[in-house]
Amino acid sequence: MSTETARPVRRVTVPEIRARKGGEPIVALTSYHAHTAAIVDRHAEVILVGDSLGMVMHGMETTVGVPLDLMVMHGKAVVRGTRRALVVVDMPFGSYEESPSVAFRNAARVMKETGCGAVKLEGGARMGETIRFLTERGVPVMAHIGLTPQSSHVLGGFRTQGRDEATWPAHLEDARVVAEAGAFAVVVEGVVEPLAARITAACPIPTIGIGASAACDGQILVLEDMLGLNPRPPRFVRVYGRLGDMIEEAVAAYAGEVRARAFPGEDQVYR
Ligand code: KIV
Repeated sequence: MSTETARPVRRVTVPEIRARKGGEPIVALTSYHAHTAAIVDRHAEVILVGDSLGMVMHGMETTVGVPLDLMVMHGKAVVRGTRRALVVVDMPFGSYEESPSVAFRNAARVMKETGCGAVKLEGGARMGETIRFLTERGVPVMAHIGLTPQSSHVLGGFRTQGRDEATWPAHLEDARVVAEAGAFAVVVEGVVEPLAARITAACPIPTIGIGASAACDGQILVLEDMLGLNPRPPRFVRVYGRLGDMIEEAVAAYAGEVRARAFPGEDQVYR
């Protein structure tokens, strides 16, 4: 028996993610429940309990209808299922935009009730004051710029950002302001590659891309998309698993066996 004491597992910290700027790419994935989070925890440094759960798990058309209570519920599950990754919980639409103090009240609730290590909120320059207010009061913030799904009604849908070069200064300003306000990292979603590269080069905090090319300091995907559970994944997703097909096959096999009275069999019966 080894006399060496096993080193306790400890969580990745916010300063550790912040320090990854320009270094080894940050691996991030979403997760909404304990079982998948436990698997992701062995491979990713950041797990985001994204408000995409409204669309992925609850069949909503957009993320706009996601309530704070739902984020708290899924955040708790993910924290319970993990030991290593930094868990970041999304602030849903309507829970932080009104004022910095409303944002603090709701972010503090998310942190207290879930045990997560940070929150994420959407918006660039317009959220600077709020990001500063939160970080100065002990709430680490991951920002989110580019395509911000909670504003899909204003943006006219889920549209790639930065196709028109005239818009680039505004996106670069978003990145500058959130970093200066104290965000420790920034998700850059759905922007053209040269803009993602400019933002990453100019921004002093790590950029975590989704549909924003390999120019970013890290990558994030929605777990269900990369596992093959979304029949129509966005173009920027690479599908690493075929879980949708596997589930279909398994459910069809079960249904066939129940109908044929082949399940339960000898091994599944209490004698
Ligand atoms: O809600 C979410 O899952 C996200 C990621 C797509 C970055 O914000």
